Amino acid sequence: MSLPSTIAVDGPAASGKSTIGGLLAERLGYLYFDTGALYRAITCLALERGLAIGDEEAIVALAQAAQITITRPTVQDGRQYTVYADSRDITWEIRSPEVDAHVSPVSAYPGVREALKAAQRRMGEEGQVVMVGRDIGTVILPHADLKIYLDASLEVRAQRRYEEVLARGEEASYEDVLADMRRRDEIDSHRLAAPLKPAEDAIIVDTDHLSIEEVLSQVMALVEKWQPLEGGVDP
Ligand code: CDP
Repeated sequence: MSLPSTIAVDGPAASGKSTIGGLLAERLGYLYFDTGALYRAITCLALERGLAIGDEEAIVALAQAAQITITRPTVQDGRQYTVYADSRDITWEIRSPEVDAHVSPVSAYPGVREALKAAQRRMGEEGQVVMVGRDIGTVILPHADLKIYLDASLEVRAQRRYEEVLARGEEASYEDVLADMRRRDEIDSHRLAAPLKPAEDAIIVDTDHLSIEEVLSQVMALVEKWQPLEGGVDP
Protein backbone atom coordinates (compact mmCIF):
# COMPACT_ATOMS: atom_id res chain seq x y z
CA MET A 1 0.00 0.00 0.00
CA SER A 2 1.41 3.40 -0.87
CA LEU A 3 0.74 6.35 1.37
CA PRO A 4 0.54 10.04 0.52
CA SER A 5 3.89 11.60 1.43
CA THR A 6 2.89 15.26 1.55
CA ILE A 7 -0.36 15.93 3.38
CA ALA A 8 -1.80 19.46 3.48
CA VAL A 9 -4.34 20.28 6.19
CA ASP A 10 -5.98 23.69 5.88
CA GLY A 11 -8.96 25.34 7.53
CA PRO A 12 -10.11 28.23 9.71
CA ALA A 13 -9.08 28.91 13.32
CA ALA A 14 -9.88 26.13 15.79
CA SER A 15 -11.24 23.79 13.14
CA GLY A 16 -9.04 21.10 14.68
CA LYS A 17 -6.08 21.40 12.33
CA SER A 18 -3.35 21.24 14.96
CA THR A 19 -4.92 18.42 16.98
CA ILE A 20 -5.67 16.30 13.94
CA GLY A 21 -2.45 17.25 12.15
CA GLY A 22 -0.36 16.31 15.19
CA LEU A 23 -2.13 12.98 15.72
CA LEU A 24 -2.01 12.12 12.04
CA ALA A 25 1.73 12.84 11.85
CA GLU A 26 2.29 10.68 14.94
CA ARG A 27 0.30 7.78 13.46
CA LEU A 28 2.22 7.92 10.20
CA GLY A 29 5.62 8.70 11.76
CA TYR A 30 5.73 11.91 9.70
CA LEU A 31 6.97 15.36 10.62
CA TYR A 32 4.23 17.70 11.87
CA PHE A 33 4.69 21.27 10.71
CA ASP A 34 2.28 23.94 11.93
CA THR A 35 2.85 26.94 9.67
CA GLY A 36 0.67 29.21 11.84
CA ALA A 37 3.55 29.18 14.33
CA LEU A 38 5.70 31.12 11.83
CA TYR A 39 3.13 33.91 11.42
CA ARG A 40 2.57 33.94 15.17
CA ALA A 41 6.32 34.19 15.83
CA ILE A 42 6.69 37.22 13.53
CA THR A 43 3.68 38.88 15.21
CA CYS A 44 5.11 38.17 18.65
CA LEU A 45 8.49 39.72 17.74
CA ALA A 46 6.79 42.76 16.19
CA LEU A 47 4.81 43.36 19.40
CA GLU A 48 7.88 42.88 21.60
CA ARG A 49 9.82 45.40 19.56
CA GLY A 50 6.99 47.90 19.71
CA LEU A 51 6.52 47.99 15.92
CA ALA A 52 3.20 49.38 14.70
CA ILE A 53 1.24 46.48 13.20
CA GLY A 54 0.09 48.86 10.44
CA ASP A 55 3.72 49.56 9.43
CA GLU A 56 3.93 47.10 6.55
CA GLU A 57 7.50 47.96 5.59
CA ALA A 58 8.83 47.39 9.11
CA ILE A 59 6.90 44.16 9.57
CA VAL A 60 8.05 42.76 6.22
CA ALA A 61 11.67 43.68 7.03
CA LEU A 62 11.29 41.87 10.34
CA ALA A 63 9.89 38.75 8.61
CA GLN A 64 12.82 38.77 6.17
CA ALA A 65 15.43 39.08 8.92
CA ALA A 66 13.94 36.91 11.68
CA GLN A 67 15.52 33.55 12.45
CA ILE A 68 12.58 31.37 13.42
CA THR A 69 13.23 27.69 14.05
CA ILE A 70 10.68 25.01 14.85
CA THR A 71 11.91 21.78 16.41
CA ARG A 72 10.48 18.73 18.11
CA PRO A 73 9.32 19.54 21.69
CA THR A 74 12.25 20.33 23.99
CA VAL A 75 10.09 20.40 27.15
CA GLN A 76 7.25 18.05 28.05
CA ASP A 77 4.69 20.71 29.03
CA GLY A 78 1.93 19.92 26.57
CA ARG A 79 3.59 21.65 23.61
CA GLN A 80 3.48 20.04 20.16
CA TYR A 81 6.80 21.60 19.14
CA THR A 82 9.29 24.23 20.29
CA VAL A 83 9.57 27.60 18.56
CA TYR A 84 12.79 29.60 18.75
CA ALA A 85 13.43 33.18 17.72
CA ASP A 86 17.22 33.09 17.37
CA SER A 87 17.94 30.90 20.38
CA ARG A 88 15.09 32.13 22.59
CA ASP A 89 12.19 29.77 23.30
CA ILE A 90 8.95 31.64 22.46
CA THR A 91 6.66 28.60 22.22
CA TRP A 92 4.06 29.87 24.69
CA GLU A 93 4.47 33.59 23.98
CA ILE A 94 3.10 33.05 20.46
CA ARG A 95 -0.22 31.80 21.95
CA SER A 96 -0.97 35.02 23.86
CA PRO A 97 -4.24 36.94 23.30
CA GLU A 98 -2.16 39.88 21.97
CA VAL A 99 -0.71 37.66 19.26
CA ASP A 100 -4.18 36.24 18.53
CA ALA A 101 -5.48 39.76 18.09
CA HIS A 102 -2.74 40.89 15.67
CA VAL A 103 -1.64 37.82 13.74
CA SER A 104 -4.18 38.13 10.90
CA PRO A 105 -3.20 41.64 9.73
CA VAL A 106 0.47 40.58 9.88
CA SER A 107 -0.26 37.45 7.83
CA ALA A 108 -2.14 39.48 5.23
CA TYR A 109 1.03 41.33 4.12
CA PRO A 110 2.22 39.73 0.86
CA GLY A 111 5.86 40.46 1.80
CA VAL A 112 5.49 38.53 5.04
CA ARG A 113 4.01 35.53 3.20
CA GLU A 114 6.76 35.68 0.60
CA ALA A 115 9.46 35.79 3.29
CA LEU A 116 8.09 32.64 4.93
CA LYS A 117 7.37 30.71 1.73
CA ALA A 118 10.76 29.17 0.91
CA ALA A 119 11.22 27.59 4.34
CA GLN A 120 7.74 26.04 4.14
CA ARG A 121 8.31 24.67 0.63
CA ARG A 122 11.65 23.19 1.69
CA MET A 123 9.98 21.27 4.48
CA GLY A 124 7.30 20.09 2.06
CA GLU A 125 9.83 18.87 -0.47
CA GLU A 126 11.43 16.61 2.15
CA GLY A 127 8.20 14.57 2.11
CA GLN A 128 6.72 12.51 4.95
CA VAL A 129 5.17 15.64 6.32
CA VAL A 130 1.79 16.79 7.57
CA MET A 131 1.73 20.54 6.97
CA VAL A 132 -1.02 22.57 8.59
CA GLY A 133 -2.15 26.12 7.74
CA ARG A 134 -4.43 28.27 5.61
CA ASP A 135 -2.84 28.15 2.14
CA ILE A 136 -0.86 24.91 2.11
CA GLY A 137 -3.01 23.17 -0.49
CA THR A 138 -3.57 26.32 -2.56
CA VAL A 139 -0.19 28.11 -2.55
CA ILE A 140 2.61 26.44 -0.59
CA LEU A 141 2.24 22.83 -1.77
CA PRO A 142 -0.16 22.92 -4.73
CA HIS A 143 1.05 19.40 -5.66
CA ALA A 144 0.55 17.91 -2.19
CA ASP A 145 -0.43 14.25 -2.46
CA LEU A 146 -3.46 14.64 -0.22
CA LYS A 147 -5.29 17.86 0.69
CA ILE A 148 -7.71 18.02 3.55
CA TYR A 149 -9.78 21.04 4.53
CA LEU A 150 -11.20 20.91 8.04
CA ASP A 151 -14.22 23.08 8.65
CA ALA A 152 -16.66 23.85 11.48
CA SER A 153 -19.15 26.60 12.26
CA LEU A 154 -17.94 29.80 13.91
CA GLU A 155 -19.80 29.04 17.16
CA VAL A 156 -18.37 25.54 17.53
CA ARG A 157 -14.86 26.78 16.82
CA ALA A 158 -15.19 29.64 19.32
CA GLN A 159 -16.39 27.20 21.97
CA ARG A 160 -13.40 24.91 21.34
CA ARG A 161 -10.91 27.78 21.50
CA TYR A 162 -12.58 29.13 24.68
CA GLU A 163 -12.19 25.74 26.36
CA GLU A 164 -8.55 25.56 25.25
CA VAL A 165 -7.79 28.95 26.81
CA LEU A 166 -9.50 27.96 30.09
CA ALA A 167 -7.60 24.66 30.12
CA ARG A 168 -4.34 26.62 30.02
CA GLY A 169 -5.50 28.34 33.21
CA GLU A 170 -6.00 31.69 31.51
CA GLU A 171 -9.04 33.93 31.76
CA ALA A 172 -11.30 34.63 28.83
CA SER A 173 -14.90 35.31 27.96
CA TYR A 174 -16.66 33.28 25.29
CA GLU A 175 -17.91 36.51 23.68
CA ASP A 176 -14.37 37.90 23.33
CA VAL A 177 -13.10 34.64 21.83
CA LEU A 178 -16.04 34.57 19.41
CA ALA A 179 -15.47 38.20 18.37
CA ASP A 180 -11.73 37.63 17.84
CA MET A 181 -12.39 34.56 15.74
CA ARG A 182 -15.02 36.32 13.62
CA ARG A 183 -12.56 39.15 12.96
CA ARG A 184 -9.79 36.73 12.02
CA ASP A 185 -12.04 34.69 9.72
CA GLU A 186 -13.02 37.89 7.98
CA ILE A 187 -9.41 39.03 7.39
CA ASP A 188 -8.06 35.55 6.51
CA SER A 189 -10.81 34.86 3.96
CA HIS A 190 -10.85 38.25 2.27
CA ARG A 191 -7.17 39.17 2.04
CA LEU A 192 -5.74 39.38 -1.47
CA ALA A 193 -2.62 37.33 -0.72
CA ALA A 194 -3.40 33.63 -0.36
CA PRO A 195 -6.89 33.91 1.15
CA LEU A 196 -8.27 31.05 3.21
CA LYS A 197 -10.24 28.75 0.90
CA PRO A 198 -10.23 25.04 0.10
CA ALA A 199 -8.06 23.99 -2.85
CA GLU A 200 -10.15 22.67 -5.75
CA ASP A 201 -8.90 19.16 -5.10
CA ALA A 202 -9.18 19.31 -1.29
CA ILE A 203 -11.48 16.95 0.58
CA ILE A 204 -13.64 18.92 2.99
CA VAL A 205 -14.34 17.39 6.39
CA ASP A 206 -17.06 19.13 8.41
CA THR A 207 -16.14 18.57 12.04
CA ASP A 208 -19.10 20.31 13.75
CA HIS A 209 -20.63 17.17 15.21
CA LEU A 210 -17.57 14.96 15.30
CA SER A 211 -15.25 14.09 18.17
CA ILE A 212 -11.47 14.21 17.69
CA GLU A 213 -11.40 10.40 17.34
CA GLU A 214 -14.12 10.53 14.69
CA VAL A 215 -12.31 13.20 12.66
CA LEU A 216 -9.05 11.28 12.95
CA SER A 217 -10.63 8.07 11.75
CA GLN A 218 -12.22 9.83 8.75
CA VAL A 219 -8.88 11.38 7.87
CA MET A 220 -7.03 8.06 8.34
CA ALA A 221 -9.56 6.44 6.00
CA LEU A 222 -8.73 9.09 3.37
CA VAL A 223 -5.02 8.41 3.82
CA GLU A 224 -5.49 4.66 3.49
CA LYS A 225 -7.61 4.78 0.37
CA TRP A 226 -5.32 7.32 -1.32
CA GLN A 227 -3.99 6.22 -4.74
CA PRO A 228 -0.98 7.77 -6.50
CA LEU A 229 -1.89 9.65 -9.69
CA GLU A 230 -1.24 7.59 -12.84
CA GLY A 231 1.58 9.34 -14.70
CA GLY A 232 1.51 12.11 -12.09
CA VAL A 233 4.36 14.46 -11.45
CA ASP A 234 5.22 12.99 -8.08
CA PRO A 235 8.22 10.64 -7.90
O1 CDP B 1 -5.25 27.70 15.42
P1 CDP B 1 -5.44 29.07 14.91
O2 CDP B 1 -6.09 29.09 13.59
O3 CDP B 1 -6.03 30.01 15.90
O4 CDP B 1 -4.05 29.71 14.65
P2 CDP B 1 -2.94 29.42 13.61
O5 CDP B 1 -3.23 28.26 12.73
O6 CDP B 1 -1.70 29.43 14.42
O7 CDP B 1 -2.97 30.71 12.66
C1 CDP B 1 -2.90 32.01 13.18
C2 CDP B 1 -3.08 33.01 12.04
O8 CDP B 1 -1.95 32.93 11.17
C3 CDP B 1 -4.28 32.80 11.15
O9 CDP B 1 -5.45 33.46 11.63
C4 CDP B 1 -3.82 33.39 9.81
O10 CDP B 1 -4.03 34.79 9.80
C5 CDP B 1 -2.33 33.14 9.82
N1 CDP B 1 -1.90 32.00 9.00
C6 CDP B 1 -1.78 32.19 7.64
O11 CDP B 1 -2.08 33.26 7.15
N2 CDP B 1 -1.30 31.18 6.85
C7 CDP B 1 -0.97 30.00 7.37
N3 CDP B 1 -0.48 29.04 6.57
C8 CDP B 1 -1.10 29.76 8.75
C9 CDP B 1 -1.59 30.80 9.56
